[in-house]
Amino acid sequence: MNDSKVILEGRVALVTGAGHGIGREVAFTLATAGAAVCCVDLDRDAVETVAASIRHQGGKALALIADVAAEDDVDRVHDDCASALGTVQILVNNAGVQYLSPVEEFPIPEWDRLNGILLRGPFLYIRRFVPGMAAQGWGRIINLTSIHAVVASPFKTAYVSAKHGLLGLTRTVALEVATRGITVNAVSPGYTRTRLVENQIEKQAELHGLSRQQVLEKVMFGPIPQKELVEPEELAQAILFLCSESARHITGNNLMVDAGWTVA
Ligand SMILES: NC(=O)c1ccc[n+]([C@@H]2O[C@H](COP(=O)([O-])OP(=O)(O)OC[C@H]3O[C@@H](n4cnc5c(N)ncnc54)[C@H](O)[C@@H]3O)[C@@H](O)[C@H]2O)c1
Repeated sequence: MNDSKVILEGRVALVTGAGHGIGREVAFTLATAGAAVCCVDLDRDAVETVAASIRHQGGKALALIADVAAEDDVDRVHDDCASALGTVQILVNNAGVQYLSPVEEFPIPEWDRLNGILLRGPFLYIRRFVPGMAAQGWGRIINLTSIHAVVASPFKTAYVSAKHGLLGLTRTVALEVATRGITVNAVSPGYTRTRLVENQIEKQAELHGLSRQQVLEKVMFGPIPQKELVEPEELAQAILFLCSESARHITGNNLMVDAGWTVA
């Protein structure tokens, strides 16, 4: 670990969806900054690999297998993390999935699944972990929302609805905990280079009858001024900043990392 940047030494972080993509990058970045990181994911192999890799580099990490939408899993995650690493002071609600379908055919179980993972999960984790942060008088909650917390795209009814809701949850909790040393912020990525986007390119190609390159140019980059995907490392660095002391008066905010999408 690079000790010139250990601004989170002694802190304990929990990252959901830490097995892949943005969450994996966030786990590595917070660990490099000195935090002990509890990595939560449904994908056992992936999350155990991330935690082992952090430990291999000299950091502290624990892998826990859990479904963020499952109420029964939250207490176990809380207790296992507390006994192995200590009280969680940084919570990154990142786990996510996508499902595309015209609204009239949208399967109700998929609506429930997406809302469970994207909105109910963050609510359950915030509800469970706020008391520990409040007792210590210091906390950071970062919710991975999306450009789709503020704009809409066709065929994404469940995702857009849940992400709009997650931004509302972020703002509401920010007000409730404002005097307890806890900040609550959203980070809203535009299209980011992860498998979640790779899968969408395939599905969009099918729905619009386009090639992969045409999906990127006509569907995805259409409204994006910079015409580029965001890299997971950029989001991890934005989140690290929100965890820093310098960001203590940034709360209830929605940091857009969207290649200019919402400006256009
Ligand atoms: N990639 C993008 O372009 C993009 C854009 C905007 C927002 N986001 C958001 O960023 C977050 C991370 O997305 P990503 O692109 O890294 O996706 P990803 O598919 O690469 O990683 C998501 C992770 O969440 C885990 N996960 C899924 N369901 C889970 C559950 N029920 N319980 C626990 N873990 C679960 C997966 O196993 C995986 O490790 C998501 O909330 C997503 O909505 C991504």
